[in-house]
Amino acid sequence: MLRGFLLLSLLLTIAIIAVFGFRGQTSTGSPLEIFPDMVRQMKVRAQAPLNFFADGRGSRPPVAGTVPIGYEMPKPEHTAASNAAVETLQTHPRLGFSVGTDYYDTGKMGDRWGTGVPIEVTPELMLRGQQRFNITCAMCHGATAAGNGITKQYGLATVVTLQDDRIRKMADGEIFNTITNGKNTMMAYGPNIIVADRWAIIAYLRALQRSQNAAIADVPEGRRGDLEKQ
Ligand code: HEC
Repeated sequence: MLRGFLLLSLLLTIAIIAVFGFRGQTSTGSPLEIFPDMVRQMKVRAQAPLNFFADGRGSRPPVAGTVPIGYEMPKPEHTAASNAAVETLQTHPRLGFSVGTDYYDTGKMGDRWGTGVPIEVTPELMLRGQQRFNITCAMCHGATAAGNGITKQYGLATVVTLQDDRIRKMADGEIFNTITNGKNTMMAYGPNIIVADRWAIIAYLRALQRSQNAAIADVPEGRRGDLEKQ
């Protein structure tokens, strides 16, 4: 009877100490992990060395030629001496992103949106514009820019028609800016489309707008018969 009582009080003492005894104390030892799951795993720590790679670095440098999102190309000053360099940059097919602060690069003339296509509009430029429009704009705005691209069927409800009066009357520079920087729910295409191509797209878009709003007088006299044949 007494033995039983002693054993019970010993167990009780141990239990009380186990539950309350070390509360609030700190310890440098690692805690008891009954189910560690994925608490500890093999991984590369930022900036830490790693023998896995030949150069011994854990953090990998970006792939050559990577352009981070949000990166802006350095803008050279527009002096007479640098103009030639800017010209080369802009006409280079790979590097022709916005590099200046003039109308060609921003769509702005002073404080306002300018209008007009600042490069020569040739049949080749229109074809280029058509190709670029069909690649980068048509899936949302539709092949005739009527706002009925394929993405509409998949729930992109806010796509607008580019055939309405507001966009018809919109300055070319403002459209250039929309392509470059996006607008509301439309993302920016500046990082994807070189400057000359943006203007080519605008020239083609103007042709599309005209084609959907044309009178017979717009068709050259010799070609009017072609329409009747269709
Ligand atoms: C992923 C879909 C998508 C693509 C691709 C796209 N747009 Fe848009 N665009 C939109 C949406 C959505 C709006 C409406 C934005 C808003 O909420 O005002 C819009 C609006 C516009 C507007 C009207 C801006 C205004 O001031 O109201 C213009 C102009 C335009 N887009 C031109 C283009 C051109 C040119 C291209 C091709 C380079 C293009 N978009 C590619 C989705 C797209």
